[in-house]
Amino acid sequence: MGIFHFGEEKGNFYRSQWNELVGRGQQTYTPTQIVVERAQGVYLYTVDRRKLIDFTSGVLVSNLGYSHPLFERKFRYYYGELPRNTYNMITPIQVEASRRLIESFGYSKAQKILWAASGSEGIQKAMWCALHRYPDRFIIVATRHGFHGKKGLAADVTGESSPNPNVRWISFPMGEGYGKEYYKKELDNLWDEYSGKVALLITEPYLGAKGSYHPPKWYHKLLQEWCNSHDIPFIFDEVQSCFGRTGNMYAFQTYEVEPDLVVLGKGMANGEPASAVVGREDLIESLEYGEASDTFSGGTSACCAVCATMDVFEEENIIEHVREITPYFQMMLSKLKERFSFIVDVRGEGLVYGIDCVSSEIANMCVLEAYYGVGSEGVHFLGPLAKKVLRVSPPLIITEEEIDRAFEILNSAWERIE
Ligand SMILES: Cc1ncc(COP(=O)(O)O)c(C=O)c1O
Repeated sequence: MGIFHFGEEKGNFYRSQWNELVGRGQQTYTPTQIVVERAQGVYLYTVDRRKLIDFTSGVLVSNLGYSHPLFERKFRYYYGELPRNTYNMITPIQVEASRRLIESFGYSKAQKILWAASGSEGIQKAMWCALHRYPDRFIIVATRHGFHGKKGLAADVTGESSPNPNVRWISFPMGEGYGKEYYKKELDNLWDEYSGKVALLITEPYLGAKGSYHPPKWYHKLLQEWCNSHDIPFIFDEVQSCFGRTGNMYAFQTYEVEPDLVVLGKGMANGEPASAVVGREDLIESLEYGEASDTFSGGTSACCAVCATMDVFEEENIIEHVREITPYFQMMLSKLKERFSFIVDVRGEGLVYGIDCVSSEIANMCVLEAYYGVGSEGVHFLGPLAKKVLRVSPPLIITEEEIDRAFEILNSAWERIE
C-alpha cells in the first residue's frame, strides 16, 4: 500500500492514482508524498488545505520561492512571443543568458559555456570535455561519497564504487579531523601510480546527498593546486550549490577556488529545467561540432528563466539577504539541537544544512511530524538523506518571521517524538 494520511481525502486519491500510473523508478523516497495545488513565497498549499513552510526549495531548485512576482514578470517579459523550441536556430535571449552566466563568474578561466537540460547531463558534458581534450589520458579521479547524478558518467563518479574501471576515488573530509597532509598524500600516491594518465578530477563543494558534510576551505584549494601542478582539469559540481546557497552566488567563491569547469543546475533557473557547464575554452571546444547537442538544452524557457533569476538576484540583493539571515537561521538550528536529544549534529553553511538524527526511524518521524505540524500548518522536508539526515534548504527569500513560525511548528511537532 502507498502513503496514506488520515483525513486527506483528495491527497490520498491523487497519491494512489499517481502510484498506479507512474513507474516507481521515477519516485524518490519520502514518508509524506505531499500533494500540492498552489505555492506562493515559501509556502506550499496542499489539496487538503494544509499550509506548509517549505524547507526544501523543491530539491534546492526554487531558490526564489514560488510565484515570485518579479521573477514571474521578468520571465514572461523575456519569453514574449519567442518560439519554445530553439533547435537549429538562435534567439537573442540565449545569447544574453550565455553572456550573463559567463560574466557572472568574474575570473579569466570562465570563457565559454555548454548548456544541458539536467544536472547529470551537465556533468556528463563537462567530463566529456576533459576526456576529449586529453584523449591519451583515461583515469578519472572523483571524491568519494559525492552525488553527481544517476545517469552515464555522472553515475560513474557517484558514491564510492563504480562500474567504470577507470574511476579512482580520493577521500572527502567527513568530520574525521585529518589534516591537509592526509589528503595530499592520497593525491601524491595517485600521481605516482598514474602520472600523465589522469584526465580529470571531479568533486562537489560539499557532500549534499551523503548527509551534509562541508569541508574546510583548504581542502578544495589543495585539490585545485594538485590539478594545476599536473595540468589536470578541475571540475566543480555546483549543480546544487550555485545561485546563492552558500552565501555567495557560487560556492567556488565561498571556497576560494577557480575551477577549470563548473557545472550549474537546479537553482540557476528557479524551477525551469536548466543546466550548464562554464569554463576553459580549450576544454569546451575539445568537443566536435554537435557532439554535445540535444533537443532541449539551453532552450527558451531555460534562458528566460536564467535571466529572470539573475535579475531578481541583482534587484533584490538576494545574496546580501542570505548573508544577513544566515546567523539567525544557525541560531535557531542550534536551539533545536539543544532542545531535542535525538538530534546528534547540525552541519551546513549559508542556507543549506543537514540535521543528523540518531536513527533513520527518528528522522522519518521528524519528517512526518513536521508535516502534521500544528493545526493546518506544517513544515515540508525531503525524505531523509543518507537515511537519517534531514536536509534543510528553505527558499533563499525566507524572512525572520517565517523562520520563527517554522521553528515554532517544529518545536511543537517534534515534542510528540521525544
Ligand atoms: C551536486 C549534484 N550534482 C548533480 C546532480 C544531478 O542533477 P539532476 O538530478 O538534475 O540530473 C544533483 C542532484 O541532486 C546534485 O545535487
